[in-house]
Amino acid sequence: MEQPQQSAGPEEAGTEAGKPPLRVGMVGYAFMGAAHSQGWRTAGRVFDLPRRPVLAALCGRDAAAVRAAADRHGWAATETDWRALIERDDIDLVDICTPGDSHAEIAVAALSAGKHVLCEKPLANTVEEAEAMAHAAESAYERGQSAMVGFNYRRVPATALARRMVAEGRLGTLRHIRVTYLQDWLNDPEFPLTWRLRKELAGSGSLGDLGAHIVDLAQHLAGERLAGVSALTETFVRRRPLPGGATSGLAAGGTGAGTGTVTVDDAALFTGRFASGALASFEATRYATGRKNALRLELNGERGSLAFDLERLNELWFHDATEPGTHAGFRRILVTEPDHPYLDAWWPPGHGLGYEHSFVHQARDLVHAIAEGRRPEPSFADGLQVQRVLAAVEESAEKNSAYTPIAD
Ligand SMILES: NC(=O)c1ccc[n+]([C@@H]2O[C@H](COP(=O)([O-])OP(=O)(O)OC[C@H]3O[C@@H](n4cnc5c(N)ncnc54)[C@H](O)[C@@H]3O)[C@@H](O)[C@H]2O)c1
Repeated sequence: MEQPQQSAGPEEAGTEAGKPPLRVGMVGYAFMGAAHSQGWRTAGRVFDLPRRPVLAALCGRDAAAVRAAADRHGWAATETDWRALIERDDIDLVDICTPGDSHAEIAVAALSAGKHVLCEKPLANTVEEAEAMAHAAESAYERGQSAMVGFNYRRVPATALARRMVAEGRLGTLRHIRVTYLQDWLNDPEFPLTWRLRKELAGSGSLGDLGAHIVDLAQHLAGERLAGVSALTETFVRRRPLPGGATSGLAAGGTGAGTGTVTVDDAALFTGRFASGALASFEATRYATGRKNALRLELNGERGSLAFDLERLNELWFHDATEPGTHAGFRRILVTEPDHPYLDAWWPPGHGLGYEHSFVHQARDLVHAIAEGRRPEPSFADGLQVQRVLAAVEESAEKNSAYTPIAD
């Protein structure tokens, strides 16, 4: 790919100076757009990266709004059509931060145009779309391009440490994997019918929004995949006011005239079986009053247990079952030590990180994978497998919770 020399400007100082650029073009500039901007802006200043991320061009559909967002978040140029963004020869990577209905079309076109791709989760709205994306990513990898899906919760230092401890055998054989992802922003029945509540835009509801994260995280931590699921889904509020203004992320700018039908699940509960025999349970809802972003997990193995809560994301709890019972118990690991994942580049011990750091780590890991020609993780193939789990959950729920194997 062509990489013209660029002079070092003020935003290219410090650890970034002299590195070949990785010129990013991003589509969508609201919730995830802001979070990914933070990631691209910061990664090369904190970590010593092989390439220097450049916030080259931002794409949205409204010229004035995308220009304002570009100025706020530090993007050099703007586009109002993602096709024009993909055609630019001064873009190396396309970052997709739009709702799921456009992921497949943008990603496949970007890969065909020779770009690396980062795509937000869930990878797509259907298994068929995800298959086309994984196929395009595999062909593109043969041509030296990388494609990654944005399951950023793998990159919270405490969950990355949990993965390390499971891989090191600190938990022994896993018996239980218990994961919930609880939010409450839909509890108000007057909250308007934004894109997350419309199947044609979002694919599914809490299942694809929150369930996709916990399926990916559970499988990543366990180091293996689900074999099958039994599920319940429910839509508690079936009609909602139409939106009256701009919407962004989990917020909506008031209600308009009339109401519309909610066409996605409000909550999804499912159990699952891993090939090793471990049992898993999952709960995803946006109606858990008082829970704001409570991704909680607990793993129980024959040698010990781990517990994590995203609302206290600098902490990982560990019970070592090999210790004598008299003084064994869950103990808190404050995950801020320099030898914890990602922490060597940040602050002194005890000076904790936040939500946005997972996006900085995501950018860091993707830049390394691209520079080293490695398949980034999670790959589009990983995103496709999660999509198959989501489809099995929906199928099981439609069949009175019948156990439904995950298709290969
Ligand atoms: N990784 C995470 O933790 C996380 C969190 C929230 C959302 N997400 C995912 O990120 C994606 C976006 O969600 P969000 O919360 O940022 O949504 P959002 O509503 O805040 O922003 C969506 C953006 O996409 C733009 N957009 C929509 N269609 C477009 C098109 N055809 N061309 C150009 N721009 C278009 C909108 O104008 C807006 O800027 C979704 O796939 C969602 O599931 C991931």
